[in-house]
Amino acid sequence: MVQQRGHTTVHFGSLAEGAEYVLRSNDRGRMTVAAPRLYPHLWSWDAAFVAIGLARLSVPRAVTELRTVLSGQWKNGMIPHIQFSDSAGYFPGPDRWRSEWARHAPTGVATSGICQPPVHALAVAQVVGCGRERGGADRLAAEQFLTDTFDAWFNWHAWLASVRDPYEHGMVEIHHGWESGLDNSPRWDHSYAMVAPGAMEPFERTDLHHVADHTQRPSDYEYSQYAWLIDQMRSVGYDDELTRASIDFRVRDVLMSAILAAASDVLAELGESIGRLRQAAELRAISERFRAGVTRAISPVTGLARDFDVRSGEWIHTATVAGFAPLLCCADRAIRDRQLRVLTGPQWLGHDRLAFALPTSTSPTSPAFRRTTYWRGPVWPVLTWLLGWGLRRFGDDALAEQLRQQSLQQLAHGDFAEYYDPFSGAPLGSRNQSWTAAVALDWLTDR
Ligand code: SER
Repeated sequence: MVQQRGHTTVHFGSLAEGAEYVLRSNDRGRMTVAAPRLYPHLWSWDAAFVAIGLARLSVPRAVTELRTVLSGQWKNGMIPHIQFSDSAGYFPGPDRWRSEWARHAPTGVATSGICQPPVHALAVAQVVGCGRERGGADRLAAEQFLTDTFDAWFNWHAWLASVRDPYEHGMVEIHHGWESGLDNSPRWDHSYAMVAPGAMEPFERTDLHHVADHTQRPSDYEYSQYAWLIDQMRSVGYDDELTRASIDFRVRDVLMSAILAAASDVLAELGESIGRLRQAAELRAISERFRAGVTRAISPVTGLARDFDVRSGEWIHTATVAGFAPLLCCADRAIRDRQLRVLTGPQWLGHDRLAFALPTSTSPTSPAFRRTTYWRGPVWPVLTWLLGWGLRRFGDDALAEQLRQQSLQQLAHGDFAEYYDPFSGAPLGSRNQSWTAAVALDWLTDR
């Protein structure tokens, strides 16, 4: 059973003001930077969550954020994981990525050359939902935005489904841990053990200038692997097939696959609402294929869904939050009930050392768990939001509501940290992280 923990008094009114302040102060006009110092650019999935929060404040501003995301879209449909602002001081910046060497890259916009989870349709649905609810100019702006951009979102999903799953396994293949969004999650340790950086251009990490306790960030060796993979992709001009044939990191990501399945259904619904029936049918087929892939990835032993390492041909068994991917896209009651039993049990929300009954990025009972290191253990509010979204979508409202309440308790101090120590509840990483403020705002206006 999930129990209510944490005893902070939450003043939800002022928390909403704080969240709004964070989003406004990170607003650079047409993009909201992911964090003021550590991440001074636009990140693809961060921007989608940001738009989910912004839509609560201003439908037109949320529309602008998503239009900016699309201004960096590659001609093949890929939405790159970073669109660079003019700010300096981030590694790897445009001079490392050199996206202009890629034949599909957009002109006049500097981007990275990899992607991130396709949560954007959820943001589009939020914008359209808020617009339709409010009516008037907001409704018009939201409808216009949907009509203008539907094909671009469709192309993004179609690119993932074809280029990243050419043999129709129903799983999205990624070529860098950053593509998963859960950069240094221990689910990738086995795959990264096969990434041995050779001679390469030197680099200087800038992230460590902004996070005082370096143990909260990935290690130097991990960074050399990150840079190595970028250099490998860059050396083949980010060509999809050449990358697949030569890259040292190839994994089928179960969480990204579940997000693609769920988001394709959401985009299909939006398409149906404006008469784009052919694309909607294709999206339903994509959703079905990836839902089946996610279902096949469930371990009969643990009940958690697994990633698959392509190079070694092995399933990855590490107990991370990605194991609950089926809760985002599977309606099957037996699958959900088993997942919910695991989620609310002693290895996850019921673990007796948790400050709040919230999903940790790695199970506290896993030998890989590190309570303060980035994606190796801490609680990430944005992932809690995503899981809550999946719970609500399939009618598991009581648990979704508990996660919302516990998260708001966790965020009560108003620092809007990037991630939190699961045992002490202390804020970690960057402060004033845009997506944390955005999901807080959504939780506070969600009833
Ligand atoms: N999250 C990565 C970073 O730490 C980039 O995607 O910079």
